[in-house]
Amino acid sequence: MYFQKSGIISIAVAFVLVATSFALADKDSVDYPEGFRTFTHVTTGIVTPGFIFNGVDLGAQVPGLHNIYANKKAMRSYRELAAGSAGTMFKDGSVIAFDLWEPGTLASGTGSFTFQNARIAVAVMEKDQKKYASTGGWGFQIFDPATKNPLLDAAAQTQCFACHQITPDTDFVFSKFSD
Ligand code: HEC
Repeated sequence: MYFQKSGIISIAVAFVLVATSFALADKDSVDYPEGFRTFTHVTTGIVTPGFIFNGVDLGAQVPGLHNIYANKKAMRSYRELAAGSAGTMFKDGSVIAFDLWEPGTLASGTGSFTFQNARIAVAVMEKDQKKYASTGGWGFQIFDPATKNPLLDAAAQTQCFACHQITPDTDFVFSKFSD
């Protein structure tokens, strides 16, 4: 049995360094979602290096294992969408957190166990129709997990929306909830 750190770590560090090179966001920006680990878990996904989505190298930007959490307001809309009500709009105050982890791997026997090793970043979408009118009513931000400081400037936030806007039928939210 041996412990092997995923090769993803170097890419993850690169991602954080790129993100920190952006100017810090202004005060009107999205807040760190304190207590988001007590929100409802929506879904989990794994992104590996080389994954291109909508022309963007997500394998470089968000490599690793992510868990998505939604606060109570956001959950109301996730449930409505799950029940099939097309055109559901998330209400102001909805907060969705994308909790990104560098996976670790423990190999044993003929298989392996992949687990959450170290938090890379916390990406957030917060709904406020007025404040974030130019990005579909959603504020986008990524936070440093250690300092909880925002890492994206306004231009970078626009890039988030550039991809999320391809899913207008679910109010620009990609993930789906199921009971
Ligand atoms: C190239 C496309 C793309 C870009 C760019 C992108 N995202 Fe996403 N995002 C996705 C996809 C696909 C999911 C769904 C992941 C899943 O279901 O596990 C997602 C999920 C999310 C979620 C959870 C809510 C949802 O829509 O499912 C948040 C929060 C989020 N992204 C924040 C951001 C932020 C902040 C940025 C900018 C730094 C960003 N995203 C840039 C494709 C993108």
